[in-house]
Amino acid sequence: MSTLKAVRGTRDLLPPETALWNRIEATARGVFARYNFGEIRTPVFEDTALFARGVGEETDIVSKEMYTWEDRARAQSEKTQTLTLRPENTAGVVRAYIEHQLGETGQLQKLYYIGPQFRRERPQKGRYRQFSQIGAEVIGPASAGSESPLRDAEVLEMLATLLDELGIQGWTLHLNSVGSTADRARYNDALRAALLPVAPRLCVDCQRRAETNPLRVLDCKVPEDQPIIDALPVIADSLDEDSKQHFAAVLAALDAAGVPYTRNHRLVRGLDYYTRTTFEFTHGGLPPHGASSAGTPVLGAQNALLGGGRYDGLSEMLGGPRAPGIGFAMGEDRLVLTLQAQELAAPQVPQVQADAFIAPLGDARDQAALAAINAAGLVLARELRHQGLWIELGDGSFRLKKSFEAADKCARQIVILGEDELKSGILTVKNFSTGVQTKVPRAELAAHLCLI
Ligand code: HAM
Repeated sequence: MSTLKAVRGTRDLLPPETALWNRIEATARGVFARYNFGEIRTPVFEDTALFARGVGEETDIVSKEMYTWEDRARAQSEKTQTLTLRPENTAGVVRAYIEHQLGETGQLQKLYYIGPQFRRERPQKGRYRQFSQIGAEVIGPASAGSESPLRDAEVLEMLATLLDELGIQGWTLHLNSVGSTADRARYNDALRAALLPVAPRLCVDCQRRAETNPLRVLDCKVPEDQPIIDALPVIADSLDEDSKQHFAAVLAALDAAGVPYTRNHRLVRGLDYYTRTTFEFTHGGLPPHGASSAGTPVLGAQNALLGGGRYDGLSEMLGGPRAPGIGFAMGEDRLVLTLQAQELAAPQVPQVQADAFIAPLGDARDQAALAAINAAGLVLARELRHQGLWIELGDGSFRLKKSFEAADKCARQIVILGEDELKSGILTVKNFSTGVQTKVPRAELAAHLCLI
């Protein structure tokens, strides 16, 4: 029979890597709490129309990457629906904002989420079909200040803080403004006109994009196309006075807070809901003192650690009230890859070990005695764990040599628990780093194990 494997583009996360995932999530939750964000958890699947309307029918995500299925009605009271595994979380958050009338509070809603997203992309390093995002959204009525450039700057400053606290070295913030819908329409016209004479010299994909969606030409990575694309008009020249002022205020606040950024005229992002500020944080490579050569991209071609921006019209697109907003999503898988590469480059930290390994010593031929010593081992482990110690429990059927070998791999000390120890209440403890063996009364065991 053929063995079953995780589906292409999905993977299992195992210890010790999961410890790093937990550390990242705990750090993110800590930073979000300090900036007064609360957690939102939306369903993993939604009505397909949410993404078609929110993210945009023409985007790569909606046109080719979504996991969508007909969900057949199971009862007369139900309708057959078309459902989709969420490819991103912003549309779901805004749907929830509308559904629960959060705008009625008159307050800014500051919401964060951590969870899986699904896109049928071509898998490669840093790009998966199930991946995890850590994201946040600030949304509310304009009267609550949701449109203010200060919100943009505060979110970006929070991200700089979060990446620093996570220990990500060498990130770059790329910043642009895609203006209002009207600004973008003007820019599209300018771009289309400028592309007409040069399109035949661009790659086949760009020739098609020049006609269907000129903005996407700016995403092209083909090296030969770059000089031509760099010479195209920039969106900054199509912004109206309001959009220009808004962006200038974002930059001024970032300058004041000392958050470094790079203006990137080509950052238009691949989702339709963006207005005004758009941004990405990339990770180009390790700093020069890393073991990998400087500038080596840890993430391969997928160097965007996170992306986001403003979406002032999204709520209306989903049938809700006016509710300007801004947010971002970080690719958690990519944070993990980056931190793992940095840790490889740094001096090795010893693996986390249990405080002690309890070795019950039994006689494998006497089932009753074996069961009794194993039960005694469980009781002792329970006692010590309740006192906060990390304990690994062996098995009474192991010979002493095997217990020592197992203990040496995962714990700093071994506690021998045989018939004699059980009767006398005096246990034998060996410390692997000093090699010292001691007799310890059971009542003092926890304190003794903690001393190391
Ligand atoms: P996005 O740029 O599509 O934006 O995704 C955000 C981040 O998710 C990317 O920068 C990347 O780190 C990660 N990511 C995306 N696709 C994959 C994948 N296939 N495998 C691994 N990581 C991936 C959004 O999703 C928007 N909802 C962000 C946002 C929130 N904008 C406003 N609010």
